[in-house]
Amino acid sequence: MRVNIGQIKEMKQKGEKIAMLTAYDYSTAKIVDEVGVPLILVGDSLGMVVLGYETPIPVTMDVMIHHTKAVVRGTSRALIVGDMPFMTYTISVEEALRNAARFIQEAGCQSVKLEGGVTVAGTVRRMVQCGIPVMGHIGLTPQSVNQLGGWRVQGKTPEAASQLLKDALALEEAGAFSIVLEQVPTPLATLISKKLSIPTIGIGAGNGCDGQVLVIHDVFGLSDRVPKLAKKYASIGETMKQAVTQYFNEVKHGEFPTDANGFTMDESLLAELKK
Ligand code: KIV
Repeated sequence: MRVNIGQIKEMKQKGEKIAMLTAYDYSTAKIVDEVGVPLILVGDSLGMVVLGYETPIPVTMDVMIHHTKAVVRGTSRALIVGDMPFMTYTISVEEALRNAARFIQEAGCQSVKLEGGVTVAGTVRRMVQCGIPVMGHIGLTPQSVNQLGGWRVQGKTPEAASQLLKDALALEEAGAFSIVLEQVPTPLATLISKKLSIPTIGIGAGNGCDGQVLVIHDVFGLSDRVPKLAKKYASIGETMKQAVTQYFNEVKHGEFPTDANGFTMDESLLAELKK
């Protein structure tokens, strides 16, 4: 049985910290799921870490559905969150509902995430009314990076801080089951987390959040640059480079494959062919 949104909300009530990680493919999702991480986000960050774009903005619904399906196939326990791409939930509520439904019905995930607070609360409410669990995302919202003027910490002025609190409360009131707080000063994120009954999942928002999320490429040491808000838990990129170098050298020097990697055939058949 997969984790459900009730269990995620219960974790906050019990004071249990919630871990979430991104995954974008079958085999990585399988590892994360086997460890028991309860929430897996198929983030539109895949546009940057998997596809090499500068922002997540070019990511489309079809790309997200393709990757989300792979993550769903690789998992059986985690609650999968599909990240709604840029402009797929803001043109109209009707379009937002159709796109959210694709994540649930076509990709097979159990919830969707979208960016924004008060301005998207009405859309979140309709999704929830239709039976689609929604995770909010406020603070630094990467799809608005051009509007925000860069990848900066948010909520630093009294007005911005108070707006973030209003956004969080509006999402909770609209029925979101949790909210990502990205690049929010630790004391503000802690205050928001205390004011809400639903869990906050922080990234660059300090340890006062109810849970944490990281991009898995940062965790693995696969990113070009690990941001200050993340932690590299392994050097998989280095390991991969060593493996590729060794393979390259062995092929070049005729050391791979050996007889152990090949297949034999009937000697008499070979003799016949040679005639
Ligand atoms: O797309 C993503 O990976 C995200 C997380 C950073 C929260 O939105």
